[in-house]
Amino acid sequence: MKPFRLGVLISGSGSNLQALIDAIEGGQLPGVKIALVVSNKADAIGLQRALRHKLPAIYLPWNRPTPAEAAEMAESEAQLTALLHLFQVDLIVLAGWMRILSASFLAQFPRRVINLHPALLPDSGTGEIYTTRDGTPIPVFRGLHAVRQALQANIPTTGSTVHYVTPTVDAGPVICREEVAIEPGDTEESLHERIKEVEHRLIVEAVRRCRKNKLH
Ligand code: GRF
Repeated sequence: MKPFRLGVLISGSGSNLQALIDAIEGGQLPGVKIALVVSNKADAIGLQRALRHKLPAIYLPWNRPTPAEAAEMAESEAQLTALLHLFQVDLIVLAGWMRILSASFLAQFPRRVINLHPALLPDSGTGEIYTTRDGTPIPVFRGLHAVRQALQANIPTTGSTVHYVTPTVDAGPVICREEVAIEPGDTEESLHERIKEVEHRLIVEAVRRCRKNKLH
C-alpha cells in the first residue's frame, strides 16, 4: 500500500516533529512517512532534527505578503505549494509553524492541513467558551500567546488541541484534544513544557486518525 506522506511545517524547536519521527521509527504509525520538512526559519532546531534522520528538509524564506497580495497567494506560498506537490504530500502538519496560510492556499488542500494549538478549542472550532471535563467553563485562547493567556486568566485547566486548518486562525474542526492542569507556581515556560509532553502524544494520534479517515 502507498505510504501516507506527511509534509511537516515548523518554525522552531520541532519537538513535535521529533515525536512524529520517533513514532514512525518506533512502528507506532505504520504506513506513514515524513515526505518533507519545511521551515521558514533557517536556524530552526527542527531542521537539524530532520536532517539527522535523513529526511528531506528545506528552509523556505517567508516573505510577508504586501497588502495588495494579501488576498492572493504570495510568492512564498506558491513555492510552498510547488514543494508539497513535488514531494507528493498527503497531509500537511503545522507543528509550531508560525505563519498564517491564506484562504487560497488552504483551498488547494481541503481537510489536508492540520495544526497543533497549545490551548483547548471547542469541537466545531468556533465559540469563545470551552467547558472542561469537570464542567468548568473557560475562555478560548487563540493566536500566538495562548499559554500565557491561560496562565494569566487564573483558570485551573488548559491543554492542547489538534484541528483542521480553516482560513480563520485556530478555529477549524477539532481532531483530538487533551486537558492539562495548571499548577500553582507554573510559569509560561513550565506550563508550555507540560503541554508539549501531551502534544507529543496528540500529534501522533491526530495523524493516525487522519490516515484512517483517508483509508475509508
Ligand atoms: C507547540 O506548543 C504548538 O502547540 C505550538 O508551537 C509549539 C511548537 O513546539 N503551535 P515544537 O517546535 O514542536 O517544540
